[in-house]
Amino acid sequence: MKFFFAPMEGITKYPFRRVHHERFPGIDAYYMPFIVANQTMSFKQKERKDIDPANNAGVPAVPQVLTNKPDQFLHALQMLAELGYREVNFNLGCPMATEVSKKKGAGFLSVPEELDRFFESVFNGINADSNLSGKDICISVKTRIGVEEAAESVRLMEIFNRYPIGRLIIHARRRVDFYKGEPDLGTFGAMLAASVHPVSYNGDLFTPEDLEKITARFPGLDSVMIGRGLIRNPALVREMTGGEVLAKEELTRYLEDLFEAYHEVIHEEINVVHKMKELWFYLGENFPDSRKQLKKINKARSAAEYKAALRELLG
Ligand SMILES: Cc1cc2nc3c(=O)[nH]c(=O)nc-3n(C[C@H](O)[C@H](O)[C@H](O)COP(=O)(O)O)c2cc1C
Repeated sequence: MKFFFAPMEGITKYPFRRVHHERFPGIDAYYMPFIVANQTMSFKQKERKDIDPANNAGVPAVPQVLTNKPDQFLHALQMLAELGYREVNFNLGCPMATEVSKKKGAGFLSVPEELDRFFESVFNGINADSNLSGKDICISVKTRIGVEEAAESVRLMEIFNRYPIGRLIIHARRRVDFYKGEPDLGTFGAMLAASVHPVSYNGDLFTPEDLEKITARFPGLDSVMIGRGLIRNPALVREMTGGEVLAKEELTRYLEDLFEAYHEVIHEEINVVHKMKELWFYLGENFPDSRKQLKKINKARSAAEYKAALRELLG
């Protein structure tokens, strides 16, 4: 079984990936939060920093691109290939209204004919460009099962199957579900059976038991992608592979490293505290009996207050 760290915009940027990979090895690939390819054919400075190979040294990181225009995707692909990346992920899952209304991310799934033409142009473009075709680049796709209805997945699979996609990562929810409700395992199973490409499962893997249920139901599955579960428990993959459970001291050291790593790129200490609080939104679920201490973390107005609250919680 391969384990992929899901991209999480605002959370799993390069400082996070580096620290997690150092402290909790065992992730086969960290998919990066999306970068936006648009008509300017240039990327924001923070996006360039995130994909900079120097910032990802030693970390198996895969960039992800959001767009619905083949020329923009191909341009991003060329740039990423030049940087040395050999897999580029295409985002068909983002449920945010700002992107969906522009028919990007999960919104692109609502216009399957356009999606079909997009892939045709992209793969023709790769074949026509000896620079790209010679590099044997894998285009993987991260998708949802549909926009409004799970039944949309049938048409989507017909399209995906027509192109040399390297891997299909399926978040087993519709766009309208955002991140709520139960993943639709029935539809995922049908997509898995229909796919001619390797498929990875994504959605609500929070414990080793959650993984066991998925592998029992889909024994042929070769990989899973995990997001929130790994933010909540950074040692989750180790636990899923029979290793030791997360120890408090280990969590403390990891959080210290993260604080420092963020401080290297975020000047104001209070903004580092805000960043850590975003993680605590997920981490807090490990401490259901410590509501008072969690509240203190959440209310911290300085690094000193944050660290004191952390000591109180983790001893
Ligand atoms: C805060 C947040 C940011 C996310 N950012 C991205 C993103 O940039 N690209 C993407 O493909 N998915 C993104 N996702 C979706 C996750 O990659 C993943 O598919 C989703 O969280 C379900 O997996 P999980 O149940 O293991 O968390 C994001 C999810 C959350 C909660």
